[in-house]
Amino acid sequence: MSSIIVVGGFFGDEGKGKIVSHLVRKDQPSIVARGGVGPNAGHTVKVDGDEFGTRMSPSGFFSNDSDLLIGAGTLIDPDVLIKEINELGIEDQLKVDERCAIITEGHIEKDQKTDRLSEDIETTGTGCGPANAERAMRSIDQAKDISKLDDYLANVPKKINEALDRGEDVVVEGAQGFGLSLFYGTYPYVTSKDTGASQIASDVGLGPTKVDDVLIVFKAYPTRVGAGPFPTEMDPEEAEEKGLEEYGTVTGRERRIGEWMSDWAKYAVDVNGATQVAITCIDKYDKRCRGVTDYGNLTEKAKQFIEEKEQELGVPVTIISTGPENDETIDLREEKL
Ligand code: GTP
Ligand code: IMP
Ligand code: MG
Repeated sequence: MSSIIVVGGFFGDEGKGKIVSHLVRKDQPSIVARGGVGPNAGHTVKVDGDEFGTRMSPSGFFSNDSDLLIGAGTLIDPDVLIKEINELGIEDQLKVDERCAIITEGHIEKDQKTDRLSEDIETTGTGCGPANAERAMRSIDQAKDISKLDDYLANVPKKINEALDRGEDVVVEGAQGFGLSLFYGTYPYVTSKDTGASQIASDVGLGPTKVDDVLIVFKAYPTRVGAGPFPTEMDPEEAEEKGLEEYGTVTGRERRIGEWMSDWAKYAVDVNGATQVAITCIDKYDKRCRGVTDYGNLTEKAKQFIEEKEQELGVPVTIISTGPENDETIDLREEKL
């Protein structure tokens, strides 16, 4: 039996969706559970040439072996969720905790029309901040209060604990990144909740003593969307010259791009209690690494980068992503753990 939490170490969009899809394919967990703030997230999964961009569903929708659960801590936009369920054909696979709080049109409007949020912080405009504020006021609706979600309700902590008791594997998928944590990130340029592993565990009702592994995901070149400090940011022309430009899954906004942040990464590893590190986009660091699946076939330049990060962080780099496709992955867990 084991449980693993996957979190982002920089400012989100590190490729958690890709990494979770790899774990799902390789380990066939009985549950993939989503924590994190809500539909402000956008996870990209590429499997067998098909690309999916999701905001609410856990990144295990392509596998029939896993139940897909959304934890009580995560906000639900029912329209976004139901559209995704239908598009992905996961009507029988996906359940939401009956206590999830519900985003309304009013929250979305407030997010988009409050200058503090849309202009200063540059939020995603998906209603998450105002909904979490209303949740704190204890006046927001929960999933069990709205009939649209009747067919999808579950007790997520119960399902997770029962699966672990049966000796099955559970993958818990975080969203956003540690730099966006309301508590530990670059306040006030952050999201509306903590984004660390402890929060993600709480989101799905996984008690701290039941967490076996925390896998923190970093991308070789960190990115940031929205306002806020980014000490290693490069100018957009340089990013373009290096072929690094990226656009947001939810908002389509151009992502700001920077160099690796060593001190930040160490801080994130410490506070998240990471037991493993995944590094994505190593093919952007050295294009000759695209699609490599054996560590030995990486270039010396890439190996040096990875070994240096492992030394600095003091935690094994167990998964290396060499492209956006699910199988463009080097998995070293058997050797390193
Ligand atoms: P949030 O939950 O919103 O923080 O997102 P995320 O961590 O799931 O990441 P997202 O899918 O938004 O962004 C990652 C982007 O990088 C996507 O476009 C992926 O397809 C892509 N990607 C992931 N891994 C790799 C990789 O190893 N190489 C390359 N070239 N692209 C990658
Ligand atoms: P909010 O979460 O929509 O309130 O946005 C607050 C900040 O977090 C903004 O800078 C957003 O761009 C950023 N943000 C929120 N969710 C994500 C995500 O999933 N990936 C990347 N940035 C995010
Ligand atoms: Mg994203």
